[in-house]
Amino acid sequence: MSELIQIKDLKVHYPIRSGFFNRVTDFVYAVDGVDFTIEKGKTYGLVGESGSGKSTTGKAIVGLEKVTSGEILYEGKDITKRSNRKKMDYNKDVQMIFQDAMSSLNPKKRVADIIAEPIRNFERLSDQEEKKKVKGLLDIVGMPEDALYKYPHEFSGGQRQRLGVARAVATNPKLIVADEPVSALDLSVQAQVLNFMKRIQEEYGLSYLFISHDLGVVKHMCDNIAIMTKGRFVEIGSREDIYTDPRHIYTKRLLSAIPRIDVENRDAHKQNRRRVEEEYITHQKDYYDNVGRVYDLRKITDTHQVALKDGGAQ
Ligand SMILES: Nc1ncnc2c1ncn2[C@@H]1O[C@H](COP(=O)(O)OP(=O)(O)OP(=O)(O)O)[C@@H](O)[C@H]1O
Ligand SMILES: [Mg+2]
Repeated sequence: MSELIQIKDLKVHYPIRSGFFNRVTDFVYAVDGVDFTIEKGKTYGLVGESGSGKSTTGKAIVGLEKVTSGEILYEGKDITKRSNRKKMDYNKDVQMIFQDAMSSLNPKKRVADIIAEPIRNFERLSDQEEKKKVKGLLDIVGMPEDALYKYPHEFSGGQRQRLGVARAVATNPKLIVADEPVSALDLSVQAQVLNFMKRIQEEYGLSYLFISHDLGVVKHMCDNIAIMTKGRFVEIGSREDIYTDPRHIYTKRLLSAIPRIDVENRDAHKQNRRRVEEEYITHQKDYYDNVGRVYDLRKITDTHQVALKDGGAQ
């Protein structure tokens, strides 16, 4: 395995200010000590419910969020330090597809400029060359050439999401942090955008950090997956580990929440969901400590780790 980026004990705590003097009175522990490694050419899934800290983790990796503590190692350097990011090609190598495509695309700019913007930061191209490059990118994501002169509001959600993909790949990055790239889309359009992302990955040897709240969506995309809640990882593993041998109740709940379309097994799924909910209610203490915090991860196999009180010996 060859590592692209290593995240070590990452913490991002947001101060909460209150009172007359606007003092810091508490913190939101948005990300509270996570460790993982993204490999070259692979997709790492980051899955959890709303507010679990996924976007904050993604933004910290891209360098858009100030890190409270921990390290993010890229080519041996800790890029949580701005000076290191500047010294390397980090801001070119690591791009983000934002959760909300509408607000992340400047409404006053034409597509030609929106997609060219990241290129302009790193390359000097003539107008002609730039136009050719942007056209090529539109083609990659399956958008017609006349999109060049349109504004973001003239597109559908799925098309806008593809524009976000085109912009993210514009600088030939090594890693794309894709924050819920298809969550706002219909199932059929989801599949289209995911297929584009896969094709581009194969073509360019890209890595993805794929953020989603839905284990159903990431299944066909991810090689490795981390399950996150309350700023911590409850379980990490290969795709097989997570889907065929989930150990943490939180993972099991996310799995049982995937909508099923096969009618034959509907009763079985319903029963399974009920069983998982019962376990969740009766065995809370095995999964969270007495202040509700997630335990530290412990190794089950070389690929699989889970946060259980006694390492999983139930
Ligand atoms: N700038 C901020 N200041 C204070 N708290 C913040 C800030 N950004 C996020 N938070 C808090 O940090 C926690 C994690 O937020 P984050 O956006 O990372 O969650 P998420 O997993 O991406 O959720 P979602 O699935 O809804 O996008 C939340 O409790 C959120 O309210
Ligand atoms: Mg988010």
